[in-house]
Amino acid sequence: MLTKPIFRPSFGNRPDQLIGRDDVLEKVTDGLQSYRGSAERATLLVGQRGMGKTALLLEIGDKAAAIDYVTARVTCNESMLENLIELLQRAGEKFIKNPTSSIKGFSAGALGFSFGLTFTEEAQRSFGFRVKLEMICEKLAEAGKRVLILVDEVSPSVAQMRELASAYQELVGNEADISIVMAGLPSAISDILNYKTLTFLNRAQRIPVGLLPVSEVELYYSTAFSRAGINTTAAIVKQAAIYTKGFPYLVQLIGYYLSKLSEGGKTVDASALAQAERLAAEEIDSKVFQAMINPLSDKDLDFLKAIAQDSGASNMTVLEKRMGITHGTAQTYRKRLIDAGIIFSPRRGEVALVIPQLASYLRRMNE
Ligand SMILES: Nc1ncnc2c1ncn2[C@@H]1O[C@H](COP(=O)(O)OP(=O)(O)O)[C@@H](O)[C@H]1O
Ligand SMILES: [Mg+2]
Repeated sequence: MLTKPIFRPSFGNRPDQLIGRDDVLEKVTDGLQSYRGSAERATLLVGQRGMGKTALLLEIGDKAAAIDYVTARVTCNESMLENLIELLQRAGEKFIKNPTSSIKGFSAGALGFSFGLTFTEEAQRSFGFRVKLEMICEKLAEAGKRVLILVDEVSPSVAQMRELASAYQELVGNEADISIVMAGLPSAISDILNYKTLTFLNRAQRIPVGLLPVSEVELYYSTAFSRAGINTTAAIVKQAAIYTKGFPYLVQLIGYYLSKLSEGGKTVDASALAQAERLAAEEIDSKVFQAMINPLSDKDLDFLKAIAQDSGASNMTVLEKRMGITHGTAQTYRKRLIDAGIIFSPRRGEVALVIPQLASYLRRMNE
């Protein structure tokens, strides 16, 4: 039987159910429904790997369709602008009524379109991205539709990202009915400040994409486990949810391994859960934590390891003593790691890991 499995741990797919994101979705859709040119029509979703940014973009695309948006979703790279135009043409075509006239619409041609959202050869050749995008917006506006651009894995060092940003800004200035939602890693987003031309991205509403409420994970597990054929007790369901700490990728991984371990009708007990936790942790290490740690300098990494010695939040003064460094040096490490989205400050004078499970990875690194 080839039914889709319930738990599918990987990047960029659509979860069986999008847990705990109602507030984010509401903020974004409110923004999409605000007046033309409003700053809330540009949104930046910021979060670590595996937090569910791509899953959110997919959901936003769907929600937007219900409020008259034609959507194109691209990954930020040096060929995204061409893709954007093509995707908008494909998604928007069905809303455009072609003139029934037998003569191939001269007037339509004069406006730059031969039929639907296909440009005339001349328009195709002579116009750049910004004009093409504006033409598509205008044409879709005639059909009562507006344009939503979704950009995943935003990186300000990509030239086409900067071109898109300035085109968007100009279109907004011309009252085009357009919105943009972007998603990126905290490190990429903090890099935006280094580019003067990206000021508009700075003004976009920033929405952090963080851990899910554990209670919602538990609620989801309690029905999803039985759908996935996982035989277990309420106590194990609760324990499994607590273990994930609401990290979406881990929510999928734990479910995935539990369904493997319960194959053949085996009941999942505490030892099976412990086994699933071990397997999931290994995968998180290689798919998430290694990539997170890789760009760090040895010194930042040492600071992070010092944080990992505490079980909860770390006190900055204690960290300074532990590492034998000055207050100023500690502040430099703190800022860099906050910019990278690896730690945050839960209270004044304290820092903690954004993904709690990173602590055990860091401790294991020294073994
Ligand atoms: N809100 C959520 N509820 C349940 N699963 C989720 C949620 N968000 C993401 N996932 C799952 O977690 C994994 C990682 O999500 P993804 O969107 O690829 O993360 P990111 O783009 O932030 O790296 C995927 O398997 C995805 O289906
Ligand atoms: Mg992603």
